[in-house]
Amino acid sequence: MKKSKLDQRYSPYQMPGVIIGTIVEEKPNFMLCTWVSRVNRNPPIWMTSINKKHYTMEGIHKNKIFSMNFPSSNLVKEADYIGTTSGRERDKSSLFNIFYGQTQAPMIEECPINIEFTVESIIEYPDHYIVLGTAINTYATEQYLSDGIPAMKKINPLIYTGAEKQPTYWSIGEKIGDAFKIGKGFKQ
Ligand SMILES: Cc1cc2nc3c(=O)[nH]c(=O)nc-3n(C[C@H](O)[C@H](O)[C@H](O)COP(=O)(O)O)c2cc1C
Repeated sequence: MKKSKLDQRYSPYQMPGVIIGTIVEEKPNFMLCTWVSRVNRNPPIWMTSINKKHYTMEGIHKNKIFSMNFPSSNLVKEADYIGTTSGRERDKSSLFNIFYGQTQAPMIEECPINIEFTVESIIEYPDHYIVLGTAINTYATEQYLSDGIPAMKKINPLIYTGAEKQPTYWSIGEKIGDAFKIGKGFKQ
């Protein structure tokens, strides 16, 4: 099988489109982030990688709280707007209906899933900070639940691929199997 070498920064795989909420200069601010992952089971710790220059980082350094808001794909235009416009240039505080939980982190009502975090630690890299946060509370809009569990088809989460080449948004496809089960029937 012949392989071609790609740019070493190329990221082939799907990433979640996540809206990071913070308070900067006493106002809610939102940015789009795709470098996001859960990194510890118990306590539930997540990471998000945020460029050092982003306005969002000012709020995270100062207040040590943030939120992750998981949009449906119908919020793609809003998500792209906050991913291409800095809170330093434009006030992004009134784009969404905001609610608050236990922390001061602003959360977005229109997003089916929201998590509020306190900052655990911040790791510095040359151009990004890896912000590690402990999930304090997780919320789901009831219309997106089936039997109390978030239903992916209803949520239809915003997905991103491509990084530097062909940056593209997607919505979810078809279910193809039950994880931790489907492989059990595999025979060599
Ligand atoms: C598709 C997409 C994905 C992005 N992912 C990230 C990311 O993972 N980390 C990051 O720091 N910025 C990311 N950005 C850029 C920020 O969202 C953008 O620079 C934003 O304007 C920063 O807002 P702020 O200055 O108000 O904090 C992404 C932008 C887009 C359009």
